[in-house]
Amino acid sequence: MQDILRFITCGSVDDGKSTLIGRMLYDRKMIFDDQVAELEVSSKKFGTTGENIDFALLVDGLAAEREQGITIDVAYRYFNTEKRKFIVADTPGHIQYTRNMATAASTADLAVILVDARQGILSQTKRHSYVVSMLGVKNVIIAINKMDLVDYSKDAFSKICEDYAKFSNALNFSTIEVVPVSALNGDNICSASSHMSWYKGESLLGYLETAEISTGEQKKQAFRMPVQMVSRPNLDFRGFAGTISSGDVAVGQNIVALPSGKASKIKSIVTYKNELQSASSGQAVTLTLEDEIDISRGDLISCEEDQCSIADLFRTKILWMSEQKMIAGRQYLFKSAVSEQVCTLEKPKYLIDIENLQHIAADNLNLNDIGVCELHLNHKCAYERYENNRNLGSFILIDRHTNQTVGMGMIEHSMRRSLNVQEQYISITRNQRSEQKSQTPCVVWMTGLSGAGKSTIADTLEQRLFGDDYHTIILDGDNVRHGLNKDLGFTEQDRAENIRRISEVSKLMMDAGLIVIVSFISPFRSERELAKDIIGQDSFIEVYIDTPLELAEERDVKGLYKKARAGEIPNFTGIGSPYENPENPDVRIQTATCNPDTAAGIILKYMRENKFTVR
Ligand code: ADX
Repeated sequence: MQDILRFITCGSVDDGKSTLIGRMLYDRKMIFDDQVAELEVSSKKFGTTGENIDFALLVDGLAAEREQGITIDVAYRYFNTEKRKFIVADTPGHIQYTRNMATAASTADLAVILVDARQGILSQTKRHSYVVSMLGVKNVIIAINKMDLVDYSKDAFSKICEDYAKFSNALNFSTIEVVPVSALNGDNICSASSHMSWYKGESLLGYLETAEISTGEQKKQAFRMPVQMVSRPNLDFRGFAGTISSGDVAVGQNIVALPSGKASKIKSIVTYKNELQSASSGQAVTLTLEDEIDISRGDLISCEEDQCSIADLFRTKILWMSEQKMIAGRQYLFKSAVSEQVCTLEKPKYLIDIENLQHIAADNLNLNDIGVCELHLNHKCAYERYENNRNLGSFILIDRHTNQTVGMGMIEHSMRRSLNVQEQYISITRNQRSEQKSQTPCVVWMTGLSGAGKSTIADTLEQRLFGDDYHTIILDGDNVRHGLNKDLGFTEQDRAENIRRISEVSKLMMDAGLIVIVSFISPFRSERELAKDIIGQDSFIEVYIDTPLELAEERDVKGLYKKARAGEIPNFTGIGSPYENPENPDVRIQTATCNPDTAAGIILKYMRENKFTVR
């Protein structure tokens, strides 16, 4: 069977990546005659005439990218020569599309990085090289294209080789080949060019046909398979389906399911065609076990003797892919081959300056930044370090509100402190403490603009509850910011941390059996969601103190709106920083038409009706 080389092409917008692949396919007659005919027609339509075929059209399959003249998504092409099969991912060069390149690079064996002979090594070349190296691509070919436009000059070629060697020294490549080419004219693409007799190396295709393929590594590693589906067609069969991520598995082998750690033995290995005695990395199989142990989608089956590690705190390298900057402390959805769950990121330890590979201090990550951050998961999950297993060591981050992928990351290692800190058992439970007080603890979370009336309503509500002998406490933004949170300001990041701490404190207060009244602007939906998660949905009452900005500004009890309008308070909610309305609050109080006493009454009624104040 022929082996398969997966490679990606990367370059700046006009470097001619698509032309390069198109030329390779055309020269090796790897396209059909009708495609050639169609090419000639569309080349004319797009302004290229006669003999001169626009090879890029072979690759740029998407209508939109033809219209815009740029490649906007990853296009995978399959072709083969007598020597091997190839899967090529043609990735876009526009800087905002680094994400596509990164996605494709995470499964590639080799990268072809295009450099325009006239321009030499650009920032973009460095970025592409760094990203592919970071994603574990060990072999690169630097294709110095458009040699025809520099008169096939050996000096121009040598200068670029030198520059690249200097930069790439610090990157982790095993092989770097540099080939001078002209994709348009076919020089050194599939065979030696007559224009550059000074060049003694292989053609681009020659290198592609002989490059090393990395999948051999995965085969040597210990057995791991993430469970993608539990298959239970009838009561007699219970199998766990997935693609083997590394190593081999055989009937009779001892395994453990993670994170539970339950052990069993492989009973059978089933594929859609037949039963196997053994299987290895890359194969999609269904495993049945000797014992009825509890395994579900998202668990990992590992060999017993060399078990996969589990942890919930990691040091990770993250490529940020969203226009919305990363907010430390905000919750994102973490999705790996094994697990899908909520996570939070800490402030980056540092960013990497792509120009010189130095570390720079930063508070957050912006579009295309690469940084090192600690990542906390809500639950432990099985993982591998990215350098050992790209499949089990990588993850993507998803914004919980927009559902968009905002980042991709690699696990560098777990943090030991996650393994050394265990939960301490406490004898007296929350239930016992609340029974003693004859009340159900909960959190009344008031959100709204500054000056909306949150604190006044909170105070009135507490007086009413206190008067009825309930045990209560108020946490108020202004007060807490004088003590526990005096280190925090009003950036999105600081507000997220403000809310995280308040949510944790509220939870502790609930453990004490108290009814907690919280009054914070809490302007962002993500953080209110975080609060709800920490506190627990069933104990969380979201109260939206709905006061129009004009009214809050007119009242201006603390004189802060006036100052903010005068530019003296940056990031003031409603003026320099947004307030995201709750979409579905449990209680909504419109203060334009109701006084604090009525407002407290409405909240109490809700609490009674929903059994929060039942004795
Ligand atoms: S939150 O956004 O992080 O939830 P929090 O409720 O703790 O805010 O604090 C809001 C209080 O801080 C306001 O009532 C106001 O008195 C004061 N404050 C000072 N600067 C700002 C600002 N930039 N934006 C909003 N409130 C501010």
